[in-house]
Amino acid sequence: MKVINIVGARPNFMKMAPIIEAMNQFPDQIDHLLIHTGQHYDEKMSQSFFVDLGMPKPDINLEVGSASHAEQTARIMVEFEKVCLREKPDLVIVVGDVNSTMACTITAKKLGIKVAHVEAGLRSRDMSMPEEINRLCTDVLCDYLFTTDHFANENLRAEGVPGEKIYFVGNVMIDTLLKHKQMASQLNLMQQFGLKAQNYATLTMHRPGNVDDKGTLQGILEALTEIAQQIPIVFPIHPRTKKMVENFGLSHFFAGGQRAEGLWITEPLGYLEFLHLNMNARLVLTDSGGLQEETTVLGVPCMTMRPNTERPITCEVGTNVMVGNCKEKILFQANRLLNETVDTAGVPEKWDGKAAERIVDILLSLFET
Ligand code: UD1
Repeated sequence: MKVINIVGARPNFMKMAPIIEAMNQFPDQIDHLLIHTGQHYDEKMSQSFFVDLGMPKPDINLEVGSASHAEQTARIMVEFEKVCLREKPDLVIVVGDVNSTMACTITAKKLGIKVAHVEAGLRSRDMSMPEEINRLCTDVLCDYLFTTDHFANENLRAEGVPGEKIYFVGNVMIDTLLKHKQMASQLNLMQQFGLKAQNYATLTMHRPGNVDDKGTLQGILEALTEIAQQIPIVFPIHPRTKKMVENFGLSHFFAGGQRAEGLWITEPLGYLEFLHLNMNARLVLTDSGGLQEETTVLGVPCMTMRPNTERPITCEVGTNVMVGNCKEKILFQANRLLNETVDTAGVPEKWDGKAAERIVDILLSLFET
């Protein structure tokens, strides 16, 4: 069975790493190639993750880089089509919901190649999110839909996907987290930054809905500045956000200095470094998807600065609270979470470190000749 595994952007790497590891257990049955579309290309957004996660170097990098959605998607399709025609895989595996996920799905399906989507069925019902469009297009085309929770199964069924295409396997991102937790706990980044466990918050923010409009971004930064008077906030800044902060002249919101105090910016961190900071944090503020899941498993209170989530299981079972992006709501919830005891989180079904093994077992049985 010849498989092409696709990665493109930062959140893909930790999802694909355990799948590759599980495939490596079957060298006689599975011949697999790793293709990086090059959607993310900065060392700290891409290569450092391969090192941290012990992933093999991609066999091919399509080097598409940044562009508008249409152009980036089109460039991936043009380049990936050449790879498919040359390599003739039996199966393409895509993960998550980035442009690379959708672009490679469309390309492979039009060539009659089977496609499996890992992390299928998540829905925010918010069509202003590019990821929601990517998720819908990907799932409607894919042959095998691997899901993380019961909401995803229900969403797919409600959209008319036949039950035999849906495989509830758990969460590959959590496979990676559980595997690396111990290693991350041994780093000394907290000391380096002058932080004490349970006495700081971490922040990620890069959604266009939060950072592409000056008024919205400024309101969020005002809220964060007030919260940072109670507790230092460490903000490994995404390149997109950095660009917008500079363009809008909002850099004055961030404290300088070598050690973390106030609202404190760092470069994007590696996987292990950021896991180390999150597992010891008092609070996580984010607009990311994956972090809602990681904090659920770590039992760390999470505030998501979005109006909706495609991962409601993290609110149902985990610590996640949706706060939107208006200043007053962010401040109100942060005060509550910092000053009240928060219920400890449960862990969703099958988020047990074995999702990738389940996926590979299923694929082996499907492609058995
Ligand atoms: C992409 C995904 C998003 C995911 C995020 C994680 C889509 C539609 N969005 O958003 O779902 O949560 O990745 O990071 O696929 N840039 C760099 N260096 C890089 C990559 C990007 O400087 O290595 C800058 C460029 O200015 C670029 C901008 O970031 O134009 C946006 O990059 P892009 O890949 O289009 O989307 P993200 O915002 O990173």
